[in-house]
Amino acid sequence: MLYEIQTYGKQVLRRKTEEIPVIDQTIRTLVSNMFETMYAAEGIGLAAPQVDHSLRLFVIDLSPLDESETKRVYINPKITSFGAEQDEYEEGCLSVPTIREIVTRPTRIKISYQDLEGQSYDEEVYDFLARVIQHEYDHLEKTLFVDHLSSLKRSLLKKTLKKIASGEIQVEASENFEL
Ligand code: NI
Repeated sequence: MLYEIQTYGKQVLRRKTEEIPVIDQTIRTLVSNMFETMYAAEGIGLAAPQVDHSLRLFVIDLSPLDESETKRVYINPKITSFGAEQDEYEEGCLSVPTIREIVTRPTRIKISYQDLEGQSYDEEVYDFLARVIQHEYDHLEKTLFVDHLSSLKRSLLKKTLKKIASGEIQVEASENFEL
């Protein structure tokens, strides 16, 4: 089942997210629908608030960019540390259609999370996957990538953001592999 992707201006993107206490059939169905929704929009990452669920969960699949990659599910994730080194990359987001901007982020993080079987992991992650995880994790923390931009940059985007909030600009699949 495809969900409607919630875009800039929707309250759910700014709402506190809840831990998932039990990974039951409801959660498995939600995850399956999130992958379906993400693939339909040609995204490579999607967080639960983007499909109107205030839960601490996101999914990632980088395989369109890297054949060795596959589906990744992060339940109750916690970024436990950030490395000092940072890099820049032009990000986009399915919830902020048509806008792409350079965001500076740490290149290395440590993250703990559970998978769909409830197994816990503690991992050190680098480079592009670390960036995508940070973008999706931000969604669980009510943060959008445009929040990281300078106030000057944001003021330049004001008109476009207004059009997204009013529904004048809508989500469409793009070849940019949005997060
Ligand atoms: Ni996003």
